[in-house]
Amino acid sequence: MSKLWGGRFTKETNKLVEEFTASIAFDQLLALEDIEGSLAHVQMLGETGILPQEDVVTIKQGLLRIKDKVQQGEVEFLVEDEDIHMNIERLLIEEVGAVGGKLHTGRSRNDQVATDMHLYLRNRTLEFIDLVKAVQEAIVKQAKEHVETILPGYTHLQRAQPVSFAHHLLAYFWMFERDKERLQDSLKRINVLPLGAGALAGTTFPIQRERVAELLGFDHIYPNSMDAVSDRDFIVEFLGIASTLMMHISRLSEELVVWSSQEFQFVELDDSFCTGSSIMPQKKNPDVPELLRAKTGRVYGNLFGLLTVLKGLPLAYNKDMQEDKEGMFDTVATLDGSLRLLAPMIETMTVNTDKMKSAVQQDYSNATDIADYLAKKGVPFRDAHEVIGKIVLYAIQHKKYLLDLSMEEYQEFHAEFQEDIFSVLDPTNVVAARESAGGTGFVQVKEQLGKAIELLK
Ligand code: ARG
Repeated sequence: MSKLWGGRFTKETNKLVEEFTASIAFDQLLALEDIEGSLAHVQMLGETGILPQEDVVTIKQGLLRIKDKVQQGEVEFLVEDEDIHMNIERLLIEEVGAVGGKLHTGRSRNDQVATDMHLYLRNRTLEFIDLVKAVQEAIVKQAKEHVETILPGYTHLQRAQPVSFAHHLLAYFWMFERDKERLQDSLKRINVLPLGAGALAGTTFPIQRERVAELLGFDHIYPNSMDAVSDRDFIVEFLGIASTLMMHISRLSEELVVWSSQEFQFVELDDSFCTGSSIMPQKKNPDVPELLRAKTGRVYGNLFGLLTVLKGLPLAYNKDMQEDKEGMFDTVATLDGSLRLLAPMIETMTVNTDKMKSAVQQDYSNATDIADYLAKKGVPFRDAHEVIGKIVLYAIQHKKYLLDLSMEEYQEFHAEFQEDIFSVLDPTNVVAARESAGGTGFVQVKEQLGKAIELLK
């Protein structure tokens, strides 16, 4: 089969080379974007008089028929045609005859592929904003139910201070909010049109790039044709945002795995989100959060892969850049699947409020509050800390929790202790007392929840 670029060649391409250099196996995912870009390009070619109107009409009709066939899954892409751009051009020529060959006037595959990638990532980014929002909605739904559910808060995975479960969950809401902002902000850099840059230097045809930008809904055009065809920053940026998002998903997943263990039993994931063991009949494994945690690795890998591909490239286009695609597609698929699972998994999980409550009754996470108690009576916090350290040690040695100590015992440690210490130490009061802005106090958490709900509107 003759190549679209075959004129200068005297030999057939080596079969292995053909397979090695082809991208059609993966870049066929850009088919619709490629057609969209071509429709705008040919429209502009007609408007500027570069192509006669009747050719434009014929080419457009042909492209629309191909689009239809792509959507019906009726086209066969060929490795011999190397990539999506040449496959579609070949299909067009088959569809409408030699006039199809006029579509590539004033354009190169270099500005074409960059345009396709911009269109593709714009669509995916908009979808991801919605998917992240769905996760936030699931978080808010659970948080609403659990403002007054308390559980141990940890630092170093050691019991630190009790917190509201809603507060703990909402921490993730804000991480995802920042991810959403990052996606939104990246649109500024995605929404720039490369088409019209030609191979690297622009074109001799009197094209109107601004018009193509308008037709495709881009905010503006790349001001430099060499930058236009060699910029892949917007993909690196997407992979970076995706990595941060996966890191957040992974941290939450880790908590879900830990919380659903026999040791914690803080939550139970719905049966429909777990799997069993082929040998141990009692097992209910949290495979989904485990895989979410693990898939973060491939997303980081894709980011690093592309950064490495790009780091040594001279201007302008280099074939190396074709390697921008698989990692991006893989990231899109991974992130899409992850977000779609995460939302319903959070929404359907059962929260074991009793287990959480009994956990905070069996620890020393109210110790800070005794120190605060003395400090409020004028004892320097440092001295109070020392006294409470001794009380905790004493309690541990006597196999008691802080609420089990008697008034007499407290007074032996410090004369300032009075009866009200017991209500101060009650875990619910410990949480309720932290009403500083952004704290876990119930009033603060309700306010925070209100802000979160407002943001989702
Ligand atoms: N398949 C190519 C890519 O993805 C399209 C651009 C090819 N350009 C070229 N000069 N070989 O990068």
